[in-house]
Amino acid sequence: MTFNYQEALKNAALSMVRVKSPTHLIKMIARFLDREMGISHTSIIVLDGQKHQYVFCDSQGEKKVPKGLIKLEKDNPLIRWFSSKKEANGLIKKDHLSLQYLNSLLQDKAVLSYDKTLENRLVKIKEYMDTLKATLCVPGFYKGELLGIFILGEKTDMTEFNQEEMSFFQTLASDASMTIKNAEYKDNLLQKIEELEQSLDEIKRLRENDKDKYLQTILTFAYMVDARDPYTYGHSEQIKKLGLLTAHELHLDLSGEKEKILTSALLLHDVGKLGVPDNILHKKGPLTNDEWVLMREHVRTGPRILENHDDFKEVSVIIMHHHENFDGTGYPYKLKGDEIPIQSRIICVVDAFDAMVSDRPYRKGLAYDHAIAELKKCSGTQFDPKVVDAFLKIIEREINV
Ligand SMILES: [Fe+2]
Repeated sequence: MTFNYQEALKNAALSMVRVKSPTHLIKMIARFLDREMGISHTSIIVLDGQKHQYVFCDSQGEKKVPKGLIKLEKDNPLIRWFSSKKEANGLIKKDHLSLQYLNSLLQDKAVLSYDKTLENRLVKIKEYMDTLKATLCVPGFYKGELLGIFILGEKTDMTEFNQEEMSFFQTLASDASMTIKNAEYKDNLLQKIEELEQSLDEIKRLRENDKDKYLQTILTFAYMVDARDPYTYGHSEQIKKLGLLTAHELHLDLSGEKEKILTSALLLHDVGKLGVPDNILHKKGPLTNDEWVLMREHVRTGPRILENHDDFKEVSVIIMHHHENFDGTGYPYKLKGDEIPIQSRIICVVDAFDAMVSDRPYRKGLAYDHAIAELKKCSGTQFDPKVVDAFLKIIEREINV
């Protein structure tokens, strides 16, 4: 069987992004492995919500293991094989455990002689693998914690798993672990998205009936974002004002619906921050790398909330790219120059300036002349030079620096 692993991983990753609950994800992966890989059966055990034990979650395939059969304590030899540190004395712990390797260890007198308890532990692991009808176990970790194990049966063509397949399973297991963690965090987010969607329906209704009320409601929506962080209160209104002035200075076409689209994007550019946990959003100090990953996710969360509503399709695209840098070093897609919508380039400059001059819990805002110097310094790298030029004219005119 020829199998395109790259393509399969890409497709699996894309499906994982859409998955809303860990249980659903686990079932999806088990089904995927069963359907695509030609394996007699696939099972997955995962760490339960209380983190007390590993529970059997799903099983697929013709030889599937009955549900509810397996619960493994943290000190179970199979769990400990993956969760404890690599063992010494000639015993090489790999990122996966195959029945073949386990059998070879059990026959290796030199390895067994290092540690009296080893043979006993290996025999117990073998018993568990037999119960689970496993020929290969592949662990998934998140931040060093064992989150789950893929249990794979034999290949239906009866050949051994090859290196390419092993590394595919490992990547899939680690992607899945990361997604399970994200899904736990998303549970929280979904509740908020539901509330927001109700607001969006309300906005849509108002838009049809009353234009003034529509804008009023968008504003309320933007204030919801500001209100989560007292230090950014009023931020959206300021961004809207400066962004529209900059767009006019650039002679941007704002005819028809275009001005309303830009206004909505300016007001709602950080709406995805509703999905950033409070402890990160309000952290009094620099963020860790992992925290930055969640913080940066706001450029995807915002559009995810808005994109299903026809009125906000273009707004979503603008919002998605407001942290792209002009030289292609930004996120989420590393777009460059004119590839970035001009409205997003405007938000990028205005937002950065507003952030620099605003007070934060851990620092005073920069003086205007320092912030202006910083914009000039990053013109051409982070920022579009023509947007910076237009913005600086506005600042000089409007704020009289
Ligand atoms: Fe942002």
